[in-house]
Amino acid sequence: RIDTVIGRQLWDSRGRPTVEAEVRLAGGAIGRAIAPAGASRGAHEAIDLRDGGAAFGGMGVAQAVANVMREIAPALAGMDARDQSAVDAALVALDGTPTKQRLGGNAVVAVSMAVLHAAAAAEAVPVWRWLAQDRAVRLPLPEIQIFGGGAHAGRRTDIQDFMVMAPHAGSFRRALEITDEVYRAAGRLMAELGPLAGVADEGGWWPNFASNEQALDVLTRSIDTAGYRPGEDVFISLDIAANELGNGATYRLALDDRAMNGAAMAETVIGWTQRYPIISVEDPAAQDDLATMTAVTAAIGDRVQVIGDDVLVTRAERVETAAAAKACNAALIKVNQIGTVTEAKAALDAARAHGWGTIVSARSGETEDVMIAHLAVGWDAGQFKVGSFTRSERMAKWNEMLRIEEALGARADYAGAGAFAAPIA
Ligand code: PGA
Ligand code: ZN
Repeated sequence: RIDTVIGRQLWDSRGRPTVEAEVRLAGGAIGRAIAPAGASRGAHEAIDLRDGGAAFGGMGVAQAVANVMREIAPALAGMDARDQSAVDAALVALDGTPTKQRLGGNAVVAVSMAVLHAAAAAEAVPVWRWLAQDRAVRLPLPEIQIFGGGAHAGRRTDIQDFMVMAPHAGSFRRALEITDEVYRAAGRLMAELGPLAGVADEGGWWPNFASNEQALDVLTRSIDTAGYRPGEDVFISLDIAANELGNGATYRLALDDRAMNGAAMAETVIGWTQRYPIISVEDPAAQDDLATMTAVTAAIGDRVQVIGDDVLVTRAERVETAAAAKACNAALIKVNQIGTVTEAKAALDAARAHGWGTIVSARSGETEDVMIAHLAVGWDAGQFKVGSFTRSERMAKWNEMLRIEEALGARADYAGAGAFAAPIA
Protein backbone atom coordinates (compact mmCIF):
# COMPACT_ATOMS: atom_id res chain seq x y z
CA ARG A 1 0.00 0.00 0.00
CA ILE A 2 1.21 3.48 -0.84
CA ASP A 3 1.91 5.41 2.33
CA THR A 4 3.41 8.68 1.11
CA VAL A 5 4.61 10.27 -2.11
CA ILE A 6 7.29 12.93 -1.97
CA GLY A 7 8.43 15.25 -4.75
CA ARG A 8 11.72 17.11 -5.00
CA GLN A 9 13.54 19.28 -7.52
CA LEU A 10 16.77 17.78 -8.88
CA TRP A 11 18.87 18.60 -11.97
CA ASP A 12 19.05 16.86 -15.33
CA SER A 13 21.98 16.25 -17.69
CA ARG A 14 21.60 19.72 -19.26
CA GLY A 15 21.71 21.30 -15.80
CA ARG A 16 17.99 22.06 -15.88
CA PRO A 17 15.58 21.49 -13.00
CA THR A 18 13.59 18.27 -13.07
CA VAL A 19 11.20 16.34 -10.81
CA GLU A 20 12.06 13.33 -8.68
CA ALA A 21 9.24 11.38 -7.04
CA GLU A 22 9.75 9.09 -4.08
CA VAL A 23 7.04 6.59 -3.21
CA ARG A 24 7.07 4.98 0.23
CA LEU A 25 5.00 1.90 0.89
CA ALA A 26 3.47 0.94 4.21
CA GLY A 27 5.78 -2.11 4.35
CA GLY A 28 8.86 0.11 4.12
CA ALA A 29 9.76 -0.35 0.43
CA ILE A 30 10.79 2.81 -1.41
CA GLY A 31 10.75 3.60 -5.14
CA ARG A 32 12.27 6.64 -6.80
CA ALA A 33 12.18 7.96 -10.35
CA ILE A 34 13.28 11.14 -12.11
CA ALA A 35 11.50 12.76 -15.07
CA PRO A 36 13.59 13.16 -18.25
CA ALA A 37 13.05 16.02 -20.73
CA GLY A 38 13.11 16.26 -24.52
CA ALA A 39 14.43 19.09 -26.69
CA SER A 40 12.96 18.05 -30.06
CA ARG A 41 9.49 17.49 -28.72
CA GLY A 42 6.36 16.61 -30.67
CA ALA A 43 3.33 18.88 -30.42
CA HIS A 44 1.15 15.99 -29.21
CA GLU A 45 3.35 15.09 -26.22
CA ALA A 46 2.50 15.36 -22.55
CA ILE A 47 3.45 18.86 -21.35
CA ASP A 48 5.92 19.45 -18.53
CA LEU A 49 4.93 22.07 -15.98
CA ARG A 50 7.59 24.81 -15.77
CA ASP A 51 7.44 27.75 -13.42
CA GLY A 52 8.42 30.44 -15.90
CA GLY A 53 9.75 33.71 -14.52
CA ALA A 54 13.40 34.64 -14.13
CA ALA A 55 14.74 31.80 -11.98
CA PHE A 56 16.49 28.93 -13.81
CA GLY A 57 15.63 30.46 -17.18
CA GLY A 58 11.95 29.83 -16.45
CA MET A 59 12.61 26.06 -16.24
CA GLY A 60 11.90 25.65 -12.51
CA VAL A 61 9.60 22.82 -11.42
CA ALA A 62 8.44 24.10 -8.01
CA GLN A 63 4.78 23.95 -9.06
CA ALA A 64 5.14 20.40 -10.40
CA VAL A 65 6.82 19.35 -7.13
CA ALA A 66 4.04 21.03 -5.14
CA ASN A 67 1.47 19.11 -7.21
CA VAL A 68 3.16 15.83 -6.25
CA MET A 69 3.01 16.69 -2.55
CA ARG A 70 -0.39 18.41 -2.35
CA GLU A 71 -2.53 16.66 -4.94
CA ILE A 72 -0.97 13.40 -6.05
CA ALA A 73 0.18 12.14 -2.63
CA PRO A 74 -3.26 12.25 -0.99
CA ALA A 75 -4.95 10.82 -4.10
CA LEU A 76 -2.66 7.76 -4.18
CA ALA A 77 -2.45 7.15 -0.43
CA GLY A 78 -3.69 3.66 0.43
CA MET A 79 -3.57 2.36 -3.16
CA ASP A 80 -1.88 -0.94 -4.00
CA ALA A 81 1.44 -0.10 -5.70
CA ARG A 82 1.34 -3.46 -7.50
CA ASP A 83 -1.76 -2.34 -9.39
CA GLN A 84 0.07 -0.03 -11.81
CA SER A 85 -2.90 0.41 -14.11
CA ALA A 86 -5.17 1.53 -11.25
CA VAL A 87 -2.52 3.98 -10.02
CA ASP A 88 -2.00 5.36 -13.52
CA ALA A 89 -5.75 5.64 -14.11
CA ALA A 90 -5.99 7.65 -10.89
CA LEU A 91 -3.19 9.95 -12.09
CA VAL A 92 -4.88 10.46 -15.46
CA ALA A 93 -8.24 11.20 -13.81
CA LEU A 94 -6.72 13.55 -11.26
CA ASP A 95 -4.94 15.55 -13.95
CA GLY A 96 -8.01 15.64 -16.19
CA THR A 97 -6.32 16.96 -19.34
CA PRO A 98 -5.22 14.99 -22.44
CA THR A 99 -1.67 16.34 -22.10
CA LYS A 100 -1.13 16.14 -18.30
CA GLN A 101 -0.64 19.88 -18.37
CA ARG A 102 -2.53 20.60 -15.17
CA LEU A 103 -0.38 18.53 -12.81
CA GLY A 104 2.55 18.51 -15.25
CA GLY A 105 3.79 15.62 -17.38
CA ASN A 106 7.04 15.79 -15.40
CA ALA A 107 5.19 15.33 -12.07
CA VAL A 108 2.98 12.52 -13.38
CA VAL A 109 5.70 10.50 -15.11
CA ALA A 110 8.03 10.66 -12.11
CA VAL A 111 5.28 9.37 -9.81
CA SER A 112 4.12 6.66 -12.23
CA MET A 113 7.65 5.26 -12.60
CA ALA A 114 8.38 5.60 -8.87
CA VAL A 115 5.30 3.49 -8.09
CA LEU A 116 6.59 0.79 -10.46
CA HIS A 117 9.95 0.93 -8.72
CA ALA A 118 8.36 0.66 -5.27
CA ALA A 119 6.22 -2.32 -6.30
CA ALA A 120 9.29 -4.22 -7.53
CA ALA A 121 11.19 -3.26 -4.38
CA ALA A 122 8.36 -4.59 -2.22
CA GLU A 123 8.56 -7.90 -4.09
CA ALA A 124 12.38 -7.82 -3.75
CA VAL A 125 12.90 -8.35 -7.50
CA PRO A 126 14.44 -6.09 -10.17
CA VAL A 127 11.92 -3.99 -12.10
CA TRP A 128 12.55 -5.93 -15.33
CA ARG A 129 11.71 -9.20 -13.60
CA TRP A 130 8.62 -7.71 -11.92
CA LEU A 131 7.37 -6.59 -15.33
CA ALA A 132 8.20 -9.81 -17.18
CA GLN A 133 7.03 -12.18 -14.44
CA ASP A 134 7.60 -15.67 -15.93
CA ARG A 135 7.69 -14.57 -19.57
CA ALA A 136 10.91 -14.97 -21.58
CA VAL A 137 12.82 -11.73 -22.22
CA ARG A 138 15.63 -10.68 -24.56
CA LEU A 139 18.52 -8.27 -24.26
CA PRO A 140 17.71 -5.44 -26.66
CA LEU A 141 19.56 -4.44 -29.79
CA PRO A 142 21.15 -1.07 -28.89
CA GLU A 143 20.96 1.96 -31.16
CA ILE A 144 23.93 4.16 -30.23
CA GLN A 145 24.73 7.69 -31.31
CA ILE A 146 28.12 8.57 -32.84
CA PHE A 147 27.40 12.16 -33.97
CA GLY A 148 24.70 14.34 -32.38
CA GLY A 149 23.22 17.14 -34.46
CA GLY A 150 19.98 19.05 -34.98
CA ALA A 151 18.40 20.60 -31.90
CA HIS A 152 21.00 18.82 -29.73
CA ALA A 153 24.05 20.55 -31.24
CA GLY A 154 23.22 24.11 -32.24
CA ARG A 155 21.81 22.73 -35.54
CA ARG A 156 25.30 22.03 -36.87
CA THR A 157 23.76 19.25 -38.95
CA ASP A 158 20.16 18.93 -40.10
CA ILE A 159 19.92 15.27 -39.10
CA GLN A 160 19.66 14.91 -35.31
CA ASP A 161 21.16 11.48 -34.58
CA PHE A 162 23.78 9.59 -36.54
CA MET A 163 23.79 6.18 -34.84
CA VAL A 164 25.09 2.65 -35.33
CA MET A 165 23.48 -0.75 -34.76
CA ALA A 166 25.21 -4.13 -34.52
CA PRO A 167 22.41 -6.70 -34.97
CA HIS A 168 24.80 -9.61 -35.48
CA ALA A 169 27.00 -8.88 -32.46
CA GLY A 170 25.78 -12.01 -30.70
CA SER A 171 25.36 -10.36 -27.30
CA PHE A 172 24.49 -7.00 -25.83
CA ARG A 173 27.95 -6.76 -24.25
CA ARG A 174 29.64 -7.35 -27.60
CA ALA A 175 27.40 -4.74 -29.30
CA LEU A 176 28.67 -2.13 -26.82
CA GLU A 177 32.30 -3.12 -27.41
CA ILE A 178 31.87 -2.78 -31.17
CA THR A 179 30.21 0.62 -30.72
CA ASP A 180 33.05 1.81 -28.51
CA GLU A 181 35.53 1.00 -31.30
CA VAL A 182 33.43 2.78 -33.92
CA TYR A 183 32.99 5.82 -31.64
CA ARG A 184 36.76 6.14 -31.14
CA ALA A 185 37.43 5.69 -34.86
CA ALA A 186 34.92 8.45 -35.60
CA GLY A 187 36.67 10.76 -33.13
CA ARG A 188 40.03 10.15 -34.79
CA LEU A 189 38.58 10.80 -38.26
CA MET A 190 36.90 14.01 -37.11
CA ALA A 191 40.13 15.24 -35.54
CA GLU A 192 41.81 14.70 -38.91
CA LEU A 193 39.10 16.65 -40.70
CA GLY A 194 39.43 19.71 -38.49
CA PRO A 195 39.25 20.73 -34.86
CA LEU A 196 37.06 18.46 -32.76
CA ALA A 197 34.33 20.55 -31.17
CA GLY A 198 33.43 18.40 -28.14
CA VAL A 199 30.21 16.45 -27.67
CA ALA A 200 26.50 17.18 -28.20
CA ASP A 201 23.59 16.84 -25.74
CA GLU A 202 23.53 13.04 -25.83
CA GLY A 203 27.30 12.58 -25.82
CA GLY A 204 27.91 12.01 -29.55
CA TRP A 205 30.69 13.95 -31.28
CA TRP A 206 29.65 17.54 -32.02
CA PRO A 207 29.35 17.59 -35.81
CA ASN A 208 31.85 19.49 -37.88
CA PHE A 209 30.76 18.68 -41.43
CA ALA A 210 30.18 20.57 -44.65
CA SER A 211 27.12 18.53 -45.67
CA ASN A 212 24.77 15.86 -44.35
CA GLU A 213 26.33 13.39 -46.79
CA GLN A 214 29.82 14.11 -45.47
CA ALA A 215 28.60 13.06 -42.02
CA LEU A 216 27.27 9.83 -43.54
CA ASP A 217 30.60 9.31 -45.37
CA VAL A 218 32.64 9.79 -42.20
CA LEU A 219 30.36 7.49 -40.22
CA THR A 220 30.68 4.76 -42.86
CA ARG A 221 34.48 5.18 -42.84
CA SER A 222 34.47 5.02 -39.02
CA ILE A 223 32.81 1.60 -39.13
CA ASP A 224 35.34 0.48 -41.72
CA THR A 225 38.45 1.81 -39.91
CA ALA A 226 37.24 0.19 -36.68
CA GLY A 227 37.52 -3.12 -38.55
CA TYR A 228 33.86 -3.86 -39.27
CA ARG A 229 32.02 -4.25 -42.56
CA PRO A 230 29.52 -1.40 -43.04
CA GLY A 231 26.17 -2.88 -43.97
CA GLU A 232 27.13 -6.38 -42.83
CA ASP A 233 28.49 -6.20 -39.26
CA VAL A 234 27.51 -2.67 -38.36
CA PHE A 235 24.74 -0.53 -39.85
CA ILE A 236 23.85 3.16 -39.73
CA SER A 237 20.65 4.35 -38.08
CA LEU A 238 19.40 7.94 -38.46
CA ASP A 239 16.96 10.00 -36.44
CA ILE A 240 16.13 12.75 -38.89
CA ALA A 241 13.75 14.47 -36.42
CA ALA A 242 12.18 16.14 -39.47
CA ASN A 243 9.75 18.01 -37.25
CA GLU A 244 12.63 20.39 -36.62
CA LEU A 245 13.35 20.98 -40.31
CA GLY A 246 10.65 23.42 -41.27
CA ASN A 247 6.97 24.09 -40.83
CA GLY A 248 5.61 20.59 -41.44
CA ALA A 249 5.07 21.12 -45.18
CA THR A 250 8.39 22.54 -46.39
CA TYR A 251 11.61 20.89 -45.25
CA ARG A 252 14.86 22.85 -45.10
CA LEU A 253 18.24 21.14 -45.11
CA ALA A 254 20.35 24.14 -44.10
CA LEU A 255 23.68 22.31 -44.45
CA ASP A 256 22.85 21.31 -48.03
CA ASP A 257 21.22 24.69 -48.77
CA ARG A 258 17.97 23.07 -49.97
CA ALA A 259 14.27 23.53 -49.28
CA MET A 260 11.77 20.95 -50.49
CA ASN A 261 8.24 19.60 -50.22
CA GLY A 262 7.32 16.29 -48.60
CA ALA A 263 7.70 14.25 -51.79
CA ALA A 264 11.21 15.61 -52.38
CA MET A 265 12.07 15.02 -48.71
CA ALA A 266 10.99 11.40 -49.09
CA GLU A 267 13.19 11.06 -52.20
CA THR A 268 16.15 12.55 -50.31
CA VAL A 269 15.81 10.09 -47.44
CA ILE A 270 15.24 7.16 -49.79
CA GLY A 271 18.38 8.21 -51.69
CA TRP A 272 20.46 8.21 -48.50
CA THR A 273 19.31 4.67 -47.70
CA GLN A 274 20.40 3.57 -51.21
CA ARG A 275 23.87 5.10 -50.98
CA TYR A 276 24.75 4.33 -47.35
CA PRO A 277 24.49 1.20 -45.16
CA ILE A 278 21.37 2.45 -43.38
CA ILE A 279 19.14 -0.08 -41.57
CA SER A 280 16.85 2.33 -39.69
CA VAL A 281 15.39 5.81 -40.18
CA GLU A 282 13.37 7.71 -37.55
CA ASP A 283 10.96 10.58 -38.22
CA PRO A 284 11.80 11.17 -41.91
CA ALA A 285 8.78 13.53 -41.95
CA ALA A 286 7.06 15.97 -39.60
CA GLN A 287 4.61 14.88 -36.90
CA ASP A 288 1.42 15.31 -38.97
CA ASP A 289 2.84 14.64 -42.44
CA LEU A 290 1.66 11.04 -42.70
CA ALA A 291 1.76 11.18 -46.50
CA THR A 292 5.54 11.60 -46.53
CA MET A 293 6.01 8.97 -43.82
CA THR A 294 3.91 6.59 -45.91
CA ALA A 295 5.87 7.35 -49.09
CA VAL A 296 9.16 6.54 -47.33
CA THR A 297 7.78 3.36 -45.75
CA ALA A 298 6.29 2.15 -49.05
CA ALA A 299 9.62 2.62 -50.81
CA ILE A 300 12.05 1.18 -48.24
CA GLY A 301 9.99 -0.46 -45.48
CA ASP A 302 10.85 -3.97 -46.67
CA ARG A 303 14.58 -3.46 -45.98
CA VAL A 304 14.82 -0.45 -43.66
CA GLN A 305 13.16 0.12 -40.28
CA VAL A 306 11.06 3.30 -40.38
CA ILE A 307 10.47 4.54 -36.82
CA GLY A 308 7.78 6.95 -35.70
CA ASP A 309 8.71 9.19 -32.75
CA ASP A 310 7.18 12.69 -32.89
CA VAL A 311 4.47 11.33 -35.18
CA LEU A 312 3.34 8.74 -32.58
CA VAL A 313 4.39 10.35 -29.24
CA THR A 314 3.87 6.98 -27.49
CA ARG A 315 0.08 7.25 -27.91
CA ALA A 316 -1.79 4.05 -28.79
CA GLU A 317 -4.41 5.93 -30.82
CA ARG A 318 -1.72 7.62 -32.94
CA VAL A 319 -0.09 4.21 -33.47
CA GLU A 320 -3.45 3.00 -34.84
CA THR A 321 -3.77 6.00 -37.16
CA ALA A 322 -0.20 5.54 -38.41
CA ALA A 323 -0.73 1.81 -38.88
CA ALA A 324 -3.87 2.41 -40.96
CA ALA A 325 -1.81 4.75 -43.16
CA LYS A 326 1.15 2.31 -43.25
CA ALA A 327 3.25 5.28 -42.15
CA CYS A 328 6.01 3.34 -40.35
CA ASN A 329 7.02 -0.12 -39.20
CA ALA A 330 8.43 0.65 -35.74
CA ALA A 331 7.52 2.79 -32.73
CA LEU A 332 9.77 4.73 -30.40
CA ILE A 333 8.50 4.41 -26.82
CA LYS A 334 9.23 7.23 -24.35
CA VAL A 335 7.16 7.07 -21.16
CA ASN A 336 7.30 10.83 -20.62
CA GLN A 337 5.74 11.52 -24.05
CA ILE A 338 2.45 10.14 -22.74
CA GLY A 339 3.03 10.46 -18.99
CA THR A 340 2.33 7.06 -17.40
CA VAL A 341 3.85 3.59 -17.51
CA THR A 342 0.50 1.98 -18.34
CA GLU A 343 -0.24 4.25 -21.30
CA ALA A 344 3.29 3.81 -22.67
CA LYS A 345 2.88 0.03 -22.47
CA ALA A 346 -0.44 0.32 -24.33
CA ALA A 347 1.33 2.17 -27.17
CA LEU A 348 4.02 -0.52 -27.25
CA ASP A 349 1.38 -3.28 -27.33
CA ALA A 350 -0.46 -1.52 -30.16
CA ALA A 351 2.76 -1.30 -32.19
CA ARG A 352 3.58 -4.95 -31.54
CA ALA A 353 0.08 -6.02 -32.56
CA HIS A 354 0.81 -4.53 -36.00
CA GLY A 355 4.06 -6.51 -36.25
CA TRP A 356 6.20 -3.40 -35.77
CA GLY A 357 9.54 -3.13 -34.07
CA THR A 358 9.56 -1.34 -30.70
CA ILE A 359 12.35 0.79 -29.24
CA VAL A 360 12.40 1.99 -25.63
CA SER A 361 14.12 5.39 -25.72
CA ALA A 362 15.72 7.97 -23.46
CA ARG A 363 15.31 11.74 -23.93
CA SER A 364 18.02 14.27 -24.74
CA GLY A 365 17.67 15.59 -21.18
CA GLU A 366 18.36 12.60 -18.91
CA THR A 367 19.58 11.69 -15.42
CA GLU A 368 21.14 8.82 -13.50
CA ASP A 369 17.72 7.12 -13.45
CA VAL A 370 18.02 3.72 -15.18
CA MET A 371 14.35 2.70 -15.19
CA ILE A 372 14.17 2.58 -18.99
CA ALA A 373 16.74 -0.27 -19.12
CA HIS A 374 14.30 -2.31 -17.05
CA LEU A 375 11.35 -1.32 -19.25
CA ALA A 376 13.25 -2.37 -22.40
CA VAL A 377 13.89 -5.86 -20.98
CA GLY A 378 10.72 -6.30 -18.91
CA TRP A 379 8.52 -5.38 -21.87
CA ASP A 380 10.81 -7.31 -24.24
CA ALA A 381 10.90 -4.28 -26.52
CA GLY A 382 13.76 -5.69 -28.60
CA GLN A 383 15.55 -2.34 -29.11
CA PHE A 384 17.00 0.32 -26.82
CA LYS A 385 18.03 3.91 -27.66
CA VAL A 386 19.84 5.95 -25.03
CA GLY A 387 22.11 8.39 -26.90
CA SER A 388 25.83 8.05 -27.26
CA PHE A 389 28.67 6.19 -25.62
CA THR A 390 29.92 8.93 -23.27
CA ARG A 391 28.43 10.91 -20.36
CA SER A 392 27.21 9.03 -17.33
CA GLU A 393 23.49 9.73 -17.79
CA ARG A 394 23.87 7.60 -20.98
CA MET A 395 26.45 5.10 -19.70
CA ALA A 396 24.34 4.45 -16.59
CA LYS A 397 21.66 2.89 -18.82
CA TRP A 398 24.11 0.80 -20.88
CA ASN A 399 25.80 -0.32 -17.66
CA GLU A 400 22.50 -1.28 -16.05
CA MET A 401 21.74 -3.40 -19.11
CA LEU A 402 25.09 -5.18 -18.66
CA ARG A 403 24.05 -6.03 -15.09
CA ILE A 404 20.74 -7.41 -16.37
CA GLU A 405 22.59 -9.43 -19.02
CA GLU A 406 24.79 -10.89 -16.29
CA ALA A 407 21.80 -11.68 -14.08
CA LEU A 408 20.14 -13.56 -16.95
CA GLY A 409 23.32 -15.59 -17.43
CA ALA A 410 22.84 -18.46 -19.86
CA ARG A 411 19.27 -17.29 -20.53
CA ALA A 412 20.54 -13.91 -21.86
CA ASP A 413 19.19 -14.02 -25.40
CA TYR A 414 20.29 -11.05 -27.58
CA ALA A 415 17.42 -9.81 -29.75
CA GLY A 416 19.76 -8.69 -32.55
CA ALA A 417 18.21 -8.60 -36.01
CA GLY A 418 15.14 -10.38 -34.65
CA ALA A 419 14.11 -7.05 -33.14
CA PHE A 420 13.19 -5.62 -36.54
CA ALA A 421 9.76 -6.01 -38.14
CA ALA A 422 9.62 -9.31 -40.03
CA PRO A 423 10.71 -8.38 -43.58
CA ILE A 424 13.82 -6.47 -42.45
CA ALA A 425 15.14 -9.17 -40.13
P1 PGA B 1 14.45 14.58 -27.62
O1 PGA B 1 15.25 13.76 -28.73
O2 PGA B 1 14.56 13.83 -26.34
O3 PGA B 1 15.15 15.92 -27.61
O4 PGA B 1 13.03 14.67 -28.11
C1 PGA B 1 15.24 12.36 -28.81
C2 PGA B 1 14.59 11.89 -30.09
O5 PGA B 1 14.15 12.69 -30.93
O6 PGA B 1 14.48 10.67 -30.29
ZN1 ZN C 1 13.42 11.10 -32.37
